[in-house]
Amino acid sequence: MSDTKINKNNALSFSTPSVVDQEKRNFLVTATACTGTIGVAVAAIPFVGSMLPSERAKAAGAPVEVDISKVQSGTIFTAEWRGKPVWIIHRTDEQTAELAKHNNQLSDPMCEVTSQQPTYCKNSHRSIKENISVVVGICTHLGCSPTPKMQAGGDMGDNWTGGFFCPCHGSKFDLAGRVFKGSPAPINLVVPPHQYLTETTILIGVDAKAEV
Ligand code: FES
Repeated sequence: MSDTKINKNNALSFSTPSVVDQEKRNFLVTATACTGTIGVAVAAIPFVGSMLPSERAKAAGAPVEVDISKVQSGTIFTAEWRGKPVWIIHRTDEQTAELAKHNNQLSDPMCEVTSQQPTYCKNSHRSIKENISVVVGICTHLGCSPTPKMQAGGDMGDNWTGGFFCPCHGSKFDLAGRVFKGSPAPINLVVPPHQYLTETTILIGVDAKAEV
């Protein structure tokens, strides 16, 4: 590229840069590029180094084993799989019995949207064991995390029999993760693939036909 100068006659003149100037420019360009590369490499080391192999495997989607022996009836436990919250919902007998009573209030009571649960959970309680559901705790509207409202009534009103409320736009789900009609969320919460390894141990992330 040429340099631009004004000569004594106020006219613009163009001169070709010397070989030395061109070499200086080439050096500066190369040095800047190298500095940028080193900066990226240094920034990346702490992030990769901070993840243990097992953590990297889990983040990539490895199955997660969950001990549910201490999850009391009427409560939920939150595990993590693929970076998502997964609820282990342990219903009481009464809560499970209630599920079949409000089918007419739900958008998909019979779990017809097949993408939302494995076939072995396509039943009224959406689970392998009647009283225990495994559900991804992410709203199917825009991805917020709904709040557990396990108890009947309370601030959810007299007709509420327990479930989950998404505070972002007001979607409601029952204790099997089925969405109530009128919610912004169009479909039920996702039931991930899972199976029982023992009576009280669940493996989340394996799409095997589980039998208890
Ligand atoms: S993200 Fe849950 S209702 Fe909108």
